[in-house]
Amino acid sequence: MTGDDPTTVPSRQTPRSGSLHGMTKVTAPAILARKGGPKIAVVTAYDYPGAVIADRAGIDIILVGDSVANVVHGMDTTLEIGLDEIVIHTRAVKRARPEAMVVSDMPWLTFHLGPEDSVRNAGRLVREGGAEAVKLEGGRKRLPVIEAILDAEIPVMGHIGLTPQSVHSMGGFKVQGKVVDAAREMIEDAKALSDAGCFSIVLEGVPDVLGEIITKEVDAPTIGIGAGRSTDGQVLVFHDVLGLGSGSYPKFVRSYAHLADDAVAALGRYKADVESGAFPADDESYHVSDEVASELLKGT
Ligand code: KIV
Repeated sequence: MTGDDPTTVPSRQTPRSGSLHGMTKVTAPAILARKGGPKIAVVTAYDYPGAVIADRAGIDIILVGDSVANVVHGMDTTLEIGLDEIVIHTRAVKRARPEAMVVSDMPWLTFHLGPEDSVRNAGRLVREGGAEAVKLEGGRKRLPVIEAILDAEIPVMGHIGLTPQSVHSMGGFKVQGKVVDAAREMIEDAKALSDAGCFSIVLEGVPDVLGEIITKEVDAPTIGIGAGRSTDGQVLVFHDVLGLGSGSYPKFVRSYAHLADDAVAALGRYKADVESGAFPADDESYHVSDEVASELLKGT
């Protein structure tokens, strides 16, 4: 059997098209090298079909975000999701064998108890989940942990600004860095994460001018979500981009489809067809020969 025998290509692995990075696996060094270059497209995904779709679209990084708590598990905050769940979701994403880089979120309390515990937890995401990097929230306060994880050869994506795991200490989900002192602190946080070796930094919920300044000031590519248009890339939640959510989205979201509405309409048509008997049709049923059928029907 030769390499180009079509039977050797698993049917579900549809070749990617329109990808900026061609047909090669996206890695942390490749993302780092994109600083100031072609913008980086990141989307969350939490399962096999989501990862297949994201990868077919040529997305650069799939983030197995702790937003899975909200959009998949229906939880109120990301504080409720644990490491075991993120491992399972990462494993499902990895089964799609995406060319996109797979980054997994470190849930709340998995990197707050010291470097050793944090490395062990990051290691579980890599060894058990198959993650190629981890993301963790926080600035300079988290440097010892970030350095320890990097030291264990695990690439780290930083995340500063509106960090949802800090919802209680922030007093709600509020745009961060709106006053000069706080903005300056955030710039220092970003520089520290970049200098420590983070291969990228998520900037969430910050004024556009701050997104622009941080992007200029740091070597690591910045990935914005509600951080304006100047960042090196953008990230959105899968369910928000596709309109799979409840219908009310934050200001920074652009939904490119309305799949929840489409799904409700489709299931409504299915229900109507079941009730009317229009489903299944003859060609959606299995048959036997007339002879067998009449024999079976005899005496019924
Ligand atoms: O969990 C998540 O989805 C995230 C992104 C919004 C950056 O952290």
